[in-house]
Amino acid sequence: MQTLAQYQDAFLAHLETKKISKDPLNLYTPIDYIMKLGGKRLRPVLALMGCEAYGGTLQQAMPVATAIEIFHNFSLVHDDIMDKAPLRRGAVTVHEKWDINTGILSGDAMLIMAYQSLEEYEPSLYKALNQLFSKTALEVCEGQQWDVDFEQMDQVPEAAYLKMISQKTAVLVAGALKMGAMVAGASLAEQEKMYAFGLQLGIAFQVQDDYLDAFGDPKTFGKTVGGDIINNKKTLLFIKALEMGTTAEQKALTDLFSLSPKDPTSKITAVKDIFNSSGAATHIRAQIAHYTQEAFSVLETMEVSEPNKAVLKDFGLWLMKRSV
Ligand code: IPE
Ligand code: IPE
Ligand code: MG
Ligand code: MG
Ligand code: MG
Repeated sequence: MQTLAQYQDAFLAHLETKKISKDPLNLYTPIDYIMKLGGKRLRPVLALMGCEAYGGTLQQAMPVATAIEIFHNFSLVHDDIMDKAPLRRGAVTVHEKWDINTGILSGDAMLIMAYQSLEEYEPSLYKALNQLFSKTALEVCEGQQWDVDFEQMDQVPEAAYLKMISQKTAVLVAGALKMGAMVAGASLAEQEKMYAFGLQLGIAFQVQDDYLDAFGDPKTFGKTVGGDIINNKKTLLFIKALEMGTTAEQKALTDLFSLSPKDPTSKITAVKDIFNSSGAATHIRAQIAHYTQEAFSVLETMEVSEPNKAVLKDFGLWLMKRSV
């Protein structure tokens, strides 16, 4: 196996061979724009790693890595419409650069293109990949719906939040690893272990995403810092602050999350202060480490060589330290 940067480069080189821009340009240019805007490429890298861990080649895993990255980018285009987000990867979001209809249709086309990428596999593998892909995609939609529903709720149980982030985010991380393992011909038991590893890693990843949304550095984060606070998202920071805060902090937080001021600056500052003073921010950092460790425990049980395990472990540690 290789280093993270080598996997990213290999995937990008493969992506470059795909010609996206064609007529009608108003459909395909936004797709080209979001796909080439960068991003960490962590899901395709995990598909490649999952395949190599079981002796498969990078080339074997490229179609599945591509399918997953296109799907992920589709979900971001629609997510940015739903979250009214102006910024993505340090640049203007598709629906802001073009318009909402463009974001909807280009996103729809991307979802179809993602499925098309799987057609490169032979029939029995294609069927198995397709089944997991559809199951995963539907779960992502379910997670996204819970995320939106929670905006209107005053309180959300931690278990409900965990289910929501498992669905909207972790299942795709898990699916990427499992699909890589499937392409390599790993046993069903090993495929499931990869999935379980990915699920814990994906949960840690989304908790970290929620943490960075509040506490990331606006100069480097690439998204609007405080976006979740503006949208009254019931992240673990919010849930824990309500649980751990004093009565005064609880009341202040509830009041702040019942408002959607035109200028959100003071709301964001006040909410972040409560996230800190209640101890929620510290708790969340421990949770990120906890779910990452849970993933590593699964990794230990896998029939993967020690050097290959080390690559997957390094990836998990890198995710935890990221600032983007
Ligand atoms: C953002 O995913 C959406 C989430 C599920 C949190 P990433 O943070 O992987 O986005 P990019 O692809 O690197 O920009
Ligand atoms: C996005 O979650 C999950 C999906 C796109 C399915 P977020 O809304 O937290 O992702 P970001 O923060 O906009 O990247
Ligand atoms: Mg969003
Ligand atoms: Mg969202
Ligand atoms: Mg987020």
